[in-house]
Amino acid sequence: MPRACRYPRIATFAVFYGKDCLMKHDVADLRLAVGGKKRILWADNDMPVLAAIRRRFERARPLVGVRISACLHVTAETANLMRTLKAGGADVVLCASNPLSTQDDAAASLVKDFKIPVFAIRGEDRATYYRHIHSAIDHRPMMTLDDGADLVNELHTRRKADAHRIIASMEETTTGVIRLRAMAAKGLLKFPVVAVNDADSKHLFDNRYGTGQSTVDGIIRATDLLVAGSKIVVAGYGWCGRGFAMRARGMGALVIVTEINPIRALEAAMDGFQIMPMSEAAGIGDVFVTLTGNKHVIRAEHIRRMKDRAMVANSGHFDVEIDIPALKAMSRKVNRGVRRCVDEYVLRNGKRIYLLAEGRLINLAAAEGHPACVMDMSFATQALQAEHAVRHRGRLAVTVHDVPVEIEQQVCRLKLKTMGLGIDTLTAEQVEYLASSGEGT
Ligand SMILES: NC(=O)c1ccc[n+]([C@@H]2O[C@H](COP(=O)([O-])OP(=O)(O)OC[C@H]3O[C@@H](n4cnc5c(N)ncnc54)[C@H](O)[C@@H]3O)[C@@H](O)[C@H]2O)c1
Repeated sequence: MPRACRYPRIATFAVFYGKDCLMKHDVADLRLAVGGKKRILWADNDMPVLAAIRRRFERARPLVGVRISACLHVTAETANLMRTLKAGGADVVLCASNPLSTQDDAAASLVKDFKIPVFAIRGEDRATYYRHIHSAIDHRPMMTLDDGADLVNELHTRRKADAHRIIASMEETTTGVIRLRAMAAKGLLKFPVVAVNDADSKHLFDNRYGTGQSTVDGIIRATDLLVAGSKIVVAGYGWCGRGFAMRARGMGALVIVTEINPIRALEAAMDGFQIMPMSEAAGIGDVFVTLTGNKHVIRAEHIRRMKDRAMVANSGHFDVEIDIPALKAMSRKVNRGVRRCVDEYVLRNGKRIYLLAEGRLINLAAAEGHPACVMDMSFATQALQAEHAVRHRGRLAVTVHDVPVEIEQQVCRLKLKTMGLGIDTLTAEQVEYLASSGEGT
């Protein structure tokens, strides 16, 4: 059960709005709504692309009659996506995609101010987490949005009977896409899914700049670390790892990268980072951060070599990247909550290892997740993809689809416009040149 970052649970409500409407929900405390609304509206200022889509949706109502269940990080930015889908006419409910990432104030405001049912409480235990996913499925969704594929997985296992209604499902993160592609490869997938994560308008910006900055933010908020001069070990040089390594170096850290992919390792080396195996880096690092989407990247053999007071954190989707059971087994004592989101493990050899945010996404558990400015693009892609899926209802094959390139370009074009940036267009001569093979030396 998540502990170090937990807020006290105050109340669970089911409230009445209007004469007949019973809106079920489960959030920590509706009294937090005042602060949550401020946070949602603040984020909205930095989400102009999504706001423009919301205004169009209010007029065109492309999602009328569509019940949507979303299983996403319950944050202010997600709240603005939910408002947008609702503005399009959808009947939406939201549950959490991680037990430690919920912003209880944003959840309360979604229920109270925006009349959107939410089932999410920061620090909820595993049973509550899955009960909340089942509450979202009780909504009888025709479309789902996932971040890690937990909701889709329930629709393929314990709630199979509810899968037949799904027109399409959208997946927000790398780990979810990996799970869905594995299901598709085995012929297990029951409805079409769209890999929103794989859109350039998403991962190039969200995973790289969003995770990059907010992972630094989470570590600093949790530990008060001075990044300059720290030796930071980054496991994984994918989209998230590149972003984090770049930002940590920018703040003066000495950054070491570990990889299993020779191409990514070479890229990191030519980007100027030190490359070595984790077994070597383990004895050097002050801070270790996993961003791989893989399991047990930091294991007992690495922990044993770490320095006294080394810090270990994860920014990959699941809390399996650090072998926490091994860390527990090696420890003679655990001092929980020595700071918010920091547990101190005292090893039998006397060394102290600090585990941040219980090995869950550090940027969401200890900070506020990605800045709204970058979630603007991810969630604009989600909203347009939802509209596209409804328009192509019944015509999408049961497989994992990419986001159409027109949607990606539309999102990037709108973002550039809101940033006041112009680009060139091809001349007729250039169009012809690029389509021909005649001209040479
Ligand atoms: N914290 C967040 O807010 C956030 C945001 C987006 C994605 N994610 C998650 O972060 C993870 C990484 O996402 P990504 O988009 O960077 O994926 P990616 O596939 O681009 O990169 C992952 C990298 O990790 C490497 N890797 C795999 N196993 C390894 C190991 N044992 N040691 C070292 N390197 C290893 C891979 O070779 C790859 O280069 C996923 O779980 C994703 O869902 C988190």
